[in-house]
This record gives sequence, C-alpha cells and structure tokens, in this order.
Amino acid sequence: MAGLDVVVMAAGKGTRMKSRLPKVLHRLAGRPMVRHVLDAVAALGARRVVLVTGHGAEAVEAALRPGAGQALPFALDFARQEPQLGTGHAVQQAAPLLPEDGTVLVLNGDVPLITAATLRALAAAAADGALAVLTIALDDPSGYGRIVRDARGAVRAIVEHKDASAAERAIRETNAGMMAVPGARLRGWLARLHNRNAQGEYYLTDIVALAVADGVPVRAVTTEDAVEVAGVNSPAQLAALERAFQRRQAERLMEAGVRLADPARFDLRGTLQCGADVEIDVGCVFEGEVSLGEGVRIGAHCVIADARIAAGAVIHPFSHVAGGAVDKGGAVEVGEGALVGPFARLRPGARLGAQVHIGNFVEVKNSTLAEGAKANHLAYLGDATVGARVNYGAGSITANYDGVHKHRTVIGDDVQVGSNCVLVAPVTLGAGSTVAGGSTITKDTPAGALAVARGRQVSIEHWKRPVRTAQGR
Ligand code: UD1
Ligand code: CA
Repeated sequence: MAGLDVVVMAAGKGTRMKSRLPKVLHRLAGRPMVRHVLDAVAALGARRVVLVTGHGAEAVEAALRPGAGQALPFALDFARQEPQLGTGHAVQQAAPLLPEDGTVLVLNGDVPLITAATLRALAAAAADGALAVLTIALDDPSGYGRIVRDARGAVRAIVEHKDASAAERAIRETNAGMMAVPGARLRGWLARLHNRNAQGEYYLTDIVALAVADGVPVRAVTTEDAVEVAGVNSPAQLAALERAFQRRQAERLMEAGVRLADPARFDLRGTLQCGADVEIDVGCVFEGEVSLGEGVRIGAHCVIADARIAAGAVIHPFSHVAGGAVDKGGAVEVGEGALVGPFARLRPGARLGAQVHIGNFVEVKNSTLAEGAKANHLAYLGDATVGARVNYGAGSITANYDGVHKHRTVIGDDVQVGSNCVLVAPVTLGAGSTVAGGSTITKDTPAGALAVARGRQVSIEHWKRPVRTAQGR
C-alpha cells in the first residue's frame, strides 16, 4: 500500500481510571495499552508513526523510548498536545509531522486490541482518496459517537453521544474511534473544526460531515468484533478486556492441543510455546518468553517467566520460576524429566540438567546443576556449579556473597552434602567427597574425602535438669 502514516492519540487524561498513571500506560496482558496499539501498527509498514501525548506525556514518552521494553520496529515521533482540547485538536498537533501525499490512519491509544488486519482493511478503504471510518453496531451504544446515515444508507456524520438527539441515540452503529483520512485533505478539515458542542472540544469526528460537504466519499468499514474495538475508560473495562484477551489466548493454545484445566483461570503476559501433551493446572501466570517441551506438566498456581522447560519436566504447585535479562543471568532452563517444587524458586540463570530434582523451599540462582543432581528440601544454591548426581542436604546453603563480591561454589560429581551445611565461597568440593551435616566449609575438599567442620559432640553424663521450686515460678 502506498504512503501510509499513522497518528495514535494518547494525550487524554483518562479521568475515570482514577489513577496517577496515564491511562494508555495501564497494562493489558503485561504490556501498556498503547504498546498493543503500536504492535498492531508495526505490521503495517507505515512511513511515519506519531504518538500524540499530553497528560503524563513524560511518562508515556519514556515508556516508549528505545531501551524501554522491547524495541519498536519503527521510529516513533511524539507530538505534544497542551492543553488537551479534544481529539480533533490532538490530530492538529500531529499534522505538521505528516506528509500530505498518502493516507493517514488515526487511532485511539486506549483501544488496545485492534488488529493489523482490520487496520489494513480500513487503510485500503481510503486508498482512493475516500474517508474511511471503522464502525461497530453495539447493543448498548451509550457513550460512543453514533454513525448517522441518510435514507440511501450513505454516512452523513458522526454525532457524539452527549450531543445526540433522542432519535440519534437510538442508533446502534457507533464510531469505533479509528479513521483513515486522505493526507491531502486532513489539514484543511482540521482547520475548519470548532468546539461549539456539549463538551466544548474540537472533535475529530466532525471531519466526516466536512468530507460529505466537500463531496469526498465516506466509507464505513464495519467490524463485528466488539473486543477488538473496545475502548478502556475505567478499571472495570480494563479488567473485562483483560479476561476477553486471556480467553482468546487460552482458546488458541487449546486448539493447538494444550490442556488447560480451566481457560478462565489462565494468564499469559508474553509468549508461550508448547510441545504436544502439555498440561497446565489452574491459576498459573506466564510472563515474558516461555517454552514448554512435550509432556510438560505445570501444577496449580505457578508463576513462570522467561524459562525453557524441557520435555517431561514437572513443575509442582506454587512454584516461582523466573529468569531474567542476559546480564542478570538469563532465562531459567529446566532439563528433561526434571522435577521442581512444590514451593520451589528458580531465579535468573538457574540451569537444571535432565532428571534434576528441586524440592520444597529450595532457591536456585545463577547456578548450573548437572544431570540427576538433587536438592530436595529447604536449601539455597547461588553462583554454584553442581556436578551430576550430587545430593544437596536439607538446610544447606552456599554463602556466595561477602558483602561486596559474589563468589562461586564448585561441587564435583557425586558429592554428598549433608544437612545444614554452609559452603563459604569461593570453595570447591572434589568429586565424590562427602560433607558432614552441620559443617561450615571454608576450604576446598579433596576428591573422595569426608569433610567435617563443626564442634565435636560433648556428652555430660548424669546431667540434672533444673527443677521447679516453691518460690521461683
Ligand atoms: C471517541 C470518539 C467517539 C468514539 C469513541 C470510541 C471523538 C470526539 N469521539 O470518544 O466518537 O465512539 O472514541 O472509543 O473523537 N485524546 C487526546 N487528546 C484529547 C482528547 C482525547 O489525545 O484532547 C485521546 C485519548 O487519550 C484517547 C482518544 O483520544 O486515547 C479518545 O479520547 P476519549 O476522550 O476517550 O474519546 P471518547 O469520548 O471515548
Ligand atoms: Ca475512549
């Protein structure tokens, strides 16, 4: 398509959100609403994309600048709108940045689930110089601008709810808040807008009547998908749209064969790739990039973020598995057939080999565990390299931090670490060595040795416990 430019309006206050956070930065499925809009725009190959900011402009612009979140695949320009005098006034601020030889797509920053396919259809409807408006018929159209058509069905105008007569309020076809405008006409129409209306605002929607007056064809592109064009004006609307979006994601996964115990209790805030026969119990939250191999089972109420979980692994209920940025250790990796949890915590850089077992209240950070290693109860492994078949006892920890620097603990293959040990890093336990329970290990141990580092037991015979006396209670 030749010459497409985009304006996204995001300067409004969002009074009904009752929040300090600008409305378009409220998150849907883990990403700011306006980010969803820009992701749909990204697929269009637009020449220029201008975001109109005003209320909370600094925060909105900061959230979208390079370096904040995932990079946008296009250069985003900002146009400030101060004060905010309506949607027509918003587009007036962006107009000087736009070429006049193409089609300008005007979008609402608070309509997050719009799809690229619909935007393409809208832009295509205006490609020959017509004005195209996205419309939807609603059972309850209150609050929306109404599409006024003449007896022959041609669109004549958009009338805002607050300005509409009783007859106009009975119209169910509404303005979804998106338009494709011929660039050559846009500035002229914007210059002719006025604010003599119920809200005292410059309405973008008034350009429809101007187009009709100028003999420019006006086309309505109609959608039936209320979720796609739903605007968010309140926390309740945001929550409803979140559920609708999650439902769609859940359905897509189930169509691909993923077994969700309850699609209504499933949340994906990122991307999830699943092999065959994956089972996910209720109440799980997935964030960032997660992949689950064939036959993986995720127990109830787990949070899984930025993780690669290999075939046959099981994450038992209430586990928290969260990788991080590369400089923080990177994604969590769980090997084939590994068992994790219940109540386990895997932090950035945790890399578990095949058949590793991580039990309840065990925390693993920036550590590699080779095949078959086990830490089954109440333990901490940080900055450690753990060999194959190691058994790491209950209550044992790596003391990896001296207050300034982090140090590594290296545990050779087949080492047995007893319960309640402190491994003071940097330290190396030779392959096949054994650490006696309760030891504080500060020196390397030779392969095959038994290391005992604790006070010897003293037994005092015939010990008399204190007895209760009449006065001293
Ligand atoms: C708007 C439309 C209405 C449509 C509805 C669909 C107008 C006059 N009305 O109404 O016909 O049915 O969307 O959701 O266009 N904004 C600015 N600057 C401003 C005012 C608003 O940037 O001065 C932005 C807002 O941040 C928002 C968008 O424009 O992203 C829409 O504004 P909003 O006040 O929500 O318009 P509605 O009353 O919903
Ligand atoms: Ca709105």
